[in-house]
Amino acid sequence: MISGGLGDIGKAAAHAMQRSGCRVSIGDVHPTSPAANGFHYHQVDVSNEASVVAWFDAVESHFGQTASVIVANAAIVIIGSVMTATVEEWNRTMHVNLTGAWLTARTGAQRMLAAGLPGRIVFVGSWAGHAPHVHIAAYCAAKAGLRMLAQTMALELADKDILVNEVAPGYVDAGLSGQFFKKNAGEAERARAVVPNKRLIEAEEVAQAIAYLCSPHHRNLTGSTLLIDGGLSLQHGREHRD
Ligand SMILES: NC(=O)c1ccc[n+]([C@@H]2O[C@H](COP(=O)([O-])OP(=O)(O)OC[C@H]3O[C@@H](n4cnc5c(N)ncnc54)[C@H](O)[C@@H]3O)[C@@H](O)[C@H]2O)c1
Repeated sequence: MISGGLGDIGKAAAHAMQRSGCRVSIGDVHPTSPAANGFHYHQVDVSNEASVVAWFDAVESHFGQTASVIVANAAIVIIGSVMTATVEEWNRTMHVNLTGAWLTARTGAQRMLAAGLPGRIVFVGSWAGHAPHVHIAAYCAAKAGLRMLAQTMALELADKDILVNEVAPGYVDAGLSGQFFKKNAGEAERARAVVPNKRLIEAEEVAQAIAYLCSPHHRNLTGSTLLIDGGLSLQHGREHRD
């Protein structure tokens, strides 16, 4: 099950996991989309508990079994100074990016435990949860919270063989950053110049990392973060654009 699976990274992850033999359900806020073709699709708002539970129910009834691989990927970003952000913007970001990821992962873990299944949970975090970035304070705070959530869940679920990890991408030339780059000429080049290895990341590279963490090819990785950011977070915010 991949939340936010109509987005660029989620879609790439859905295809990567399908190629690795998974039967995939995408959950996203939109009623439906051609991008969901070939996948089970359910409209879900991850920030709403009843909506998340309904998605899990729909998956169990469609596939006849409980999902054992969960990717909490859905997120939004609202750009603006920490000084001028509204309570509504702050809460919306927290509700989708942190509470929504928790609801998705928690419901998945509850169902796996009830079915006695081992499993894999992957949170899609961000380098911005590991280093500060101006003008997206709520996003940074939510993603930093996600990292601690992944670690605490990993600890609680380790003896049940449910492994919980995080993938934290840097500047991806797709999805949330890609939309920003398209609207703002020159920003992609400016971003690339800031990254220590001078590269933007492709959604497919993030998808491969998600698929690996979801795979049976590892048995002891839990509570870890795969930072895929070309060294961006190592600069600890010193080089960031404003
Ligand atoms: N693109 C980047 O540069 C980048 C960098 C670091 C981390 N990330 C993370 O990657 C993940 C995927 O983002 P993306 O870049 O593919 O962006 P995207 O906008 O293409 O995908 C996000 C998806 O989440 C969905 N979504 C939003 N609110 C939702 C809700 N309440 N319930 C269910 N679905 C909801 C959107 O409809 C969208 O399809 C996010 O967690 C994001 O924070 C992206």
